[in-house]
Amino acid sequence: MNPELLALIRCRSCRAALEPGPDPGGASALRCEGCGASYPIVSGVPRLAEHPYVASFGRQWNRYDVVRDEEDEAVFRVKTGVDPQSLAGKLVLDAGCGGGRYARLLARMGATVLGVDLSDAVDQASKATAEFPNAAIVQADLLDLPLAESAFDLVFSIGVLHHSPDPRRAFAEIARRVTPGGRLAVWLYRKNTPPQEWINSGLRVFTSRMPARALEPISAGLGVLGSIPVLKQTLNKVINFSNHPDWTLRVCDNFDWYAPTYQSHHTAAELRSWFEAEGFGDLTELRPQKSGRAYEWAYDHNLIIGSGVNVAGTRLGG
Ligand SMILES: C[S@@+](CC[C@H](N)C(=O)[O-])C[C@H]1O[C@@H](n2cnc3c(N)ncnc32)[C@H](O)[C@@H]1O
Repeated sequence: MNPELLALIRCRSCRAALEPGPDPGGASALRCEGCGASYPIVSGVPRLAEHPYVASFGRQWNRYDVVRDEEDEAVFRVKTGVDPQSLAGKLVLDAGCGGGRYARLLARMGATVLGVDLSDAVDQASKATAEFPNAAIVQADLLDLPLAESAFDLVFSIGVLHHSPDPRRAFAEIARRVTPGGRLAVWLYRKNTPPQEWINSGLRVFTSRMPARALEPISAGLGVLGSIPVLKQTLNKVINFSNHPDWTLRVCDNFDWYAPTYQSHHTAAELRSWFEAEGFGDLTELRPQKSGRAYEWAYDHNLIIGSGVNVAGTRLGG
């Protein structure tokens, strides 16, 4: 594992630094220099936490191959406000890395990047970044983040915190990992109009409890709807489905929407207030790249289901 990144990982119990070494059974592990706790390394990934509420993500990111280098770079620029090339030599935390598409992008651009995720998606993220010695992946919980504080030049979290049981606390945890003067960028689902919220919550009561093998064909069926021109701009303002041009991404997006246990929606004012409360300034509200007056109008009126609230800021005190 990259030594610079290993030096930032902490024991969950006593917060001391960790060292690679065999566990009492002789298996590969990270061992705590303070209290002797041991965390297994499985398939090259240190495992410091796991939880069943993210099981759907483990399945999703290992099943659908969604790495699209060019698109990932464009999305990263839009959702963080950062030019990935400017991150060469910087220390970056991808908080909730999923299958690792953005960690991979930044490693390719020369950043030293740590991807953290609570689910088995770390297996896919580890494969996606395997060729880059400047990247590492850890399975850990953002709500109890076992990482050094004030360490990263950039922390970003795209589409993650709203899937935790306590997004506000997860925000505070990742905010503390930014070095003073460093940047934090967060993208969360936008709160839609009340009727849209009611319909969505009603549907998700059922879909989030379905076995994955039942929800996958439904996600594919919604993928078909997302290819029908008249429906993909209209019906999806009532029932969410992706209209991404790529079939795999469409089906993955649909599963990603309907499967997770937790999915909360937020306003830009709320997200801005979190940044301010955690000591961030120079806030920028980032807008989606899609243009056109109809889209802009619908976005500003909170009608686009699955769109985001997106803020970046600088940690004061640098
Ligand atoms: C929609 S995915 C986004 C993944 C990635 N950021 C991307 O855009 O490709 C959300 C991810 O958040 C992770 N996640 C949810 N709650 C988490 C927590 N408490 N700690 C760490 N990861 C979490 C899930 O496992 C999942 O991989």
